[in-house]
Amino acid sequence: MKTNTPVITIDGPSGTGKGTLSQLLANKLRWHLLDSGAMYRVLALAALDSGVDLDDELQLAQLALELDINFTPDQHTGVPSIQLAGAEVSDRIREHEISEASSRVAAHPAVRTALLDLQRAFQREPGLVADGRDMGSTVFPRANLKIFLTASADARAQRRYKQLKTKEDSDSLRALREDLDKRDQRDMTRAASPLRPADDALIIDSTNLSIEQVFDRLLEAVKQHGLC
Ligand code: DC
Repeated sequence: MKTNTPVITIDGPSGTGKGTLSQLLANKLRWHLLDSGAMYRVLALAALDSGVDLDDELQLAQLALELDINFTPDQHTGVPSIQLAGAEVSDRIREHEISEASSRVAAHPAVRTALLDLQRAFQREPGLVADGRDMGSTVFPRANLKIFLTASADARAQRRYKQLKTKEDSDSLRALREDLDKRDQRDMTRAASPLRPADDALIIDSTNLSIEQVFDRLLEAVKQHGLC
């Protein structure tokens, strides 16, 4: 890993605001953004499309090594659109079926290893904000600043529910909470790079904070670390 290009990692479970905050921070600093969850989602989609069994670790790892994925940041918002083998998949990878499948493919150690180089290649000048579950603990262990976001399960389910509501999804709040719990449980208990804070991570509990308030805390930490 190159040590001279700064990296800020933002890890945590779903519904903590990680994605939004990572994007805001990358925009503010004008740094690159890595949405590592999107990589697992694209891999899950590629597996489903090509009929690869979600339990077949070796075939999935091979698919990961060959993954033809592209992130194209929007010129104005910085929000990346995502392509798999040239086809636009930004919306498809957010579907319920893919959320579940991505958590399953992410549990295989060989898959995680296969994606490491692809993830680390995002560390480019002037800097990188890396969003995921194991960015600080495994992928960028020497990151300049490591953030771990938490929030109560209720708060996380409520946030995700609101997001989906705006997309006119009809999932009930309870079903959604059960799904989140199941996925988080799998992500936290897997043997390979489980979801957990790195030892040197700054933990921010966002249960009772707005996105703006969490962002202010993030910026404070970024300044304290001499990163802006
Ligand atoms: O953040 P997300 O919901 O888009 O992530 C989708 C799945 O990918 C999530 O259930 C766990 C997995 N994931 C992971 O194991 N490691 C990462 N660094 C990012 C995501």
